[in-house]
Amino acid sequence: MSIFDEMLKSDETLFRDAVALDYDFIPKLIPYREKEQKHIALCIKPLFQRRTGKNIMVYGAPGIGKTVAVKHIFKELEEKTDEIIPIYVNCWQKNTSFKIAMEICEILDYRFTHNKKTDELFKVISTILNKKSAVFCFDEIDKAEEQDFLYTLLEEIYRKTIILITNYKTWVLELEDRLKSRLMLEFLEFKEYSPEETKGILRERLRYAFVDGVWEDDGFNLAARKTAELKDIRAGLYLLREAGNAAEDKASKKITLEHVKTALNKLSDFNIKKSTELKEDERFILSIVKKNSGKKSGELYEIFKKNGGQGVYRTFQRKIDFLAKSKFISVTKTLGGPEGTTSIIKYERDAKLSDY
Ligand SMILES: Nc1ncnc2c1ncn2[C@@H]1O[C@H](COP(=O)(O)OP(=O)(O)OP(=O)(O)O)[C@@H](O)[C@H]1O
Ligand SMILES: [Mg+2]
Repeated sequence: MSIFDEMLKSDETLFRDAVALDYDFIPKLIPYREKEQKHIALCIKPLFQRRTGKNIMVYGAPGIGKTVAVKHIFKELEEKTDEIIPIYVNCWQKNTSFKIAMEICEILDYRFTHNKKTDELFKVISTILNKKSAVFCFDEIDKAEEQDFLYTLLEEIYRKTIILITNYKTWVLELEDRLKSRLMLEFLEFKEYSPEETKGILRERLRYAFVDGVWEDDGFNLAARKTAELKDIRAGLYLLREAGNAAEDKASKKITLEHVKTALNKLSDFNIKKSTELKEDERFILSIVKKNSGKKSGELYEIFKKNGGQGVYRTFQRKIDFLAKSKFISVTKTLGGPEGTTSIIKYERDAKLSDY
């Protein structure tokens, strides 16, 4: 028997539909976010009467349903009417006005973009959208390097709602007053899920994703508990999938505590924003923090320089702040020692995974 015969001899699988564990899967129901979805829907409501809508800023920690809640609303909107066009853009990937314009053209199925400049693209976009109404969602808006596309849309599109999503409410403070006063943003905070809610969400996803009855309770409970601790549903989806894989690798018909523990060991590979999405210099700094977890930020900078790192300390610190905000690392500040304020930097996943 070849190695593959052995491996594939049982074609039984524990998964019913593994796609349901993908981070961008949109479930039919988004439990515990009804209130938030209603708030967003109210901002869109005037568009149904061909009046302009309200703009809203959605903010909260990573992995707590901001994106999925808006995408879910967009899906319902598409089913309800052709008169309101939903446009979702992720500003992490599309971070300039030009890229955003190109993306909107693509969504609108407009193909003659070749050689057109940003403002020409936005003219086309306005002409198309002003026949109807539009709801824009700019997700991860803090990653956009330019903001003039917002001015353009505010001025040129007659009937619209603009939804901005970010992890940092403080992003608004840095906006130009001119833009702030035009946007007249409402604010909607997504709060972290309680441990019970976290469990409920995972239980629901598990029902889509796995064959009935394959999960043992104590395995699932550990996965749910760890997810609640990490406060990020993505970590839970990752654990469920990896535990399922671990069980299949062992040709087990059940997914047990052991398989979840195997998955937990792999969780250190997991990051809230995948580290492959980081820029090269950010990844470099992260690798240094990982090897030197627990050192002071000044010491880390020295190591960074010795290893060929470029740039002044301020730039380095800004990158450290960014990695901390994205939860790759943690920064603990201690005030008033002999050296003034010092910051201790830790590689985040190690700190959280030591104790199950
Ligand atoms: N209430 C919920 N019901 C079902 N799935 C959920 C719920 N909340 C979050 N999820 C799932 O958790 C994952 C993370 O959610 P989402 O992508 O919406 O996070 P986010 O708040 O946008 O995070 P980030 O700020 O990092 O982008 C997604 O796969 C999403 O489907
Ligand atoms: Mg998101």
